[in-house]
Amino acid sequence: MRPRIASSVAELVGGTPMIRLSYPDVPRSTRLLAKLEMFNPLSSVKDRPALHMVRAAEAAGTLKPGVTVVDATSGNTGIALASLCASRGYRCVLVLPDNATEERRQILRIFGAEIVLSPAEEGLVGTMARAEALAAAIPGAIFMGQDRNPHNPAAHYATTGPEIWSDCEGEVDVLVCGVGTGGTITGTARYLKERTNVHVVGFEPASSPVMSGGERGPHRIPGIGGGIVQANTDLTLIDEILTVTDDQAATTALELATTAGLFVGVSSGAAAHASRLVASRPEWEGATVVTILPDTGERYLSFWAELARAQEEAAGRERAADEGRVARTGLAVGRDPVGARESVGRQEKAAGRERVA
Ligand SMILES: Cc1ncc(COP(=O)(O)O)c(C=O)c1O
Repeated sequence: MRPRIASSVAELVGGTPMIRLSYPDVPRSTRLLAKLEMFNPLSSVKDRPALHMVRAAEAAGTLKPGVTVVDATSGNTGIALASLCASRGYRCVLVLPDNATEERRQILRIFGAEIVLSPAEEGLVGTMARAEALAAAIPGAIFMGQDRNPHNPAAHYATTGPEIWSDCEGEVDVLVCGVGTGGTITGTARYLKERTNVHVVGFEPASSPVMSGGERGPHRIPGIGGGIVQANTDLTLIDEILTVTDDQAATTALELATTAGLFVGVSSGAAAHASRLVASRPEWEGATVVTILPDTGERYLSFWAELARAQEEAAGRERAADEGRVARTGLAVGRDPVGARESVGRQEKAAGRERVA
């Protein structure tokens, strides 16, 4: 339970709310519930594993004053670790892929963390290897290793799973969850599966479908699809794997902003898309489908700006192509078939020709 008056940021981690999502293709009797991890103090699901990993290291005596915390992160774990280290007085060094957004780097610097960049092409594996080497080179440093640290899934077993179970009053039929390190899906699914017959669906980027047996590849859904199945991903707990395209993830996230007033990150768009697909299946009519929206859309401001620019450019190219066709044929071409017909008809009328049919 989250205290009303906390004595530290750590006490505010977890206890996040859920919101019911409505889509026309999801039956009214089906509950599609999204857990809003942006309500954590550092605005992402990673506050949970970061806190558990830090507390475990403190309890084991490996993390104490003077020790440097090192990890590899595409952003959210780093932000959570940087905040915890700032409040507990530890030095924090984070290795980030060099495509990490500028706002993420700025946030880390504000907490006083030191940033080391690694080439994005090397994937999470390369970033991890660099962080591990760095931890070995810094005297008195400890490597957190969120990809293999058992306290990552343990955090979700101890908090995310129980919160979902209690908020749904023991009625959870499906869990749909993105897979990065696998900590979230592993810990949450394990807790739920010990209590009920829950169907667990993991999703990954369509252009890096490693769990589906495909090749790793570049994608634009930060937080998931690290390029390999990480040690913290227990595949035996996952009953089904779906893939989500970059476009589906981004479009669905923006749609949540304009239709539900919810501003979430790109992978949350992927989660909403994948869980909507599952919840609209007839076999789950009347069921409770739970998904996890990992972070806030505010962490991706430069991503949205770039997307808007790309969309404007594409629309501009389409307009230019339409104008080219009009100039060549004398006919206007609308986007939709009805509009196109009307527009062609108007032009022909104006030209003194009546359209047949
Ligand atoms: C931004 C972000 N952070 C974290 C996670 C959870 O990842 P992990 O598998 O590492 O627990 C996800 C998964 O969807 C994510 O998108």
